[in-house]
Amino acid sequence: MNTKNNSGIPDKGVYVLSSPPVSWEDCLVRDATDPLAPVRQQFQLPEGVIYLDGNSLGAMPRAVSARMQKAIEQEWATGLIRSWNDADWYPAPQRVGARIARLVGAEENEVIVADSTSVNLFKLLVAALRMRPGRSLMLGERGNFPTDAYVAQGVAEITGTQFRAVESSEVLAALNEDVAVLALTHVNYKSGQAYDMAAITRRAHEVGALVVWDLAHTAGAMPCVLNACEVDFAVGCGYKYLNGGPGAPSFAFVAKRHQQGLRQPLTGWHGHARPFEFTHGYEPAPGIDRMLVGTAPQLGLIALEAALTAFDGVGLQALRAKSVALTELFITLVDQELAAYGFGLATPRDAALRGSQVSLTHEHGYAIVQALIARGVIGDFRAPDILRFGFAALYISHADVWEAVATLKQVMAEDAWRTPEFMARKAVT
Ligand SMILES: Cc1ncc(COP(=O)(O)O)c(C=O)c1O
Repeated sequence: MNTKNNSGIPDKGVYVLSSPPVSWEDCLVRDATDPLAPVRQQFQLPEGVIYLDGNSLGAMPRAVSARMQKAIEQEWATGLIRSWNDADWYPAPQRVGARIARLVGAEENEVIVADSTSVNLFKLLVAALRMRPGRSLMLGERGNFPTDAYVAQGVAEITGTQFRAVESSEVLAALNEDVAVLALTHVNYKSGQAYDMAAITRRAHEVGALVVWDLAHTAGAMPCVLNACEVDFAVGCGYKYLNGGPGAPSFAFVAKRHQQGLRQPLTGWHGHARPFEFTHGYEPAPGIDRMLVGTAPQLGLIALEAALTAFDGVGLQALRAKSVALTELFITLVDQELAAYGFGLATPRDAALRGSQVSLTHEHGYAIVQALIARGVIGDFRAPDILRFGFAALYISHADVWEAVATLKQVMAEDAWRTPEFMARKAVT
């Protein structure tokens, strides 16, 4: 149904109103009974800010500053090179990987932290192709995060294989015996829509293909059971819902059954069986260690390790329950409060089909997000018209959700986004 709102902008659709309406008091009651509410104290959030961008860069856990202080003053400045041994820097990729393993349904020695998500994807795509000689197709999805497609295109070029991207609704139908590797992102970065990991992995295996899942918007946001789904490989970001800080290293998962046969292409010395023998020929380390390439970004690893302590004692089912409650509340309040302003909903209404973000659409999305940020509600924008809001269950409250929607309503009612300041695009959106 198209109508005109009071800004003269045609509405894309009018939502069904929920009844009875949700009130501010309802949100306070939900916070009072939220078992994860105390975890928020572990995060250093600026006063007056509602942070709905943990899907891009997670908030900083308080434990990080003290740990970094120690790493810099004691371990680096004083311990110097001795800290590789004395401060246990050297085994950090495995140790931090083990912490992440619990969050993604893997075993400790199946996850390692190294490099960026893009680089890990490159390593795993090449390794997977090598495990399927005679097949030359990598299958992906249109609308995936660009780096996933770009890396696959680069891998196709250097391996003489092909990369084909199909609509997400066509992935199952496109799986056939030509496919060596299926590479998908579990939760889509724009829409927040989640795939059925178990069903898709099963189907890929039926046609003999291997699967690489990108868990950038999954790890730390919702439970994921890599081994129960018999996933082959996965990668994910350290700086989003894992809160590891800007440019935090990424993680890679290799199912134990594939580790001995894995030949990843970036054969650096840290992936060698005996790096400190400095021999001439490359010999891969046993197990997951062969995913390593060069010297680990130690400060980034230390920050990520400290950040992950925020998950200690947090059950993944409780995390998911709160995430669903927050996204559900946001959608309900958008329906209830914003029907007049021309927003569309790009995220599935069915909670089972979404991750921990909700995306709205609006033709003036960029300026609206800037106006919101100026009022202390931080979300982000993805071209052409997506306003993204991430709900990190560890530190977002129901009251935050209420205030975010109330602020969005004010921005729209006052036409506050219609200023040149908010329309000029910055480099990072
Ligand atoms: C699905 C997905 N993969 C990968 C990345 C980023 O990769 P990298 O950390 O290598 O920049 C993002 C970033 O938003 C993402 O959404």
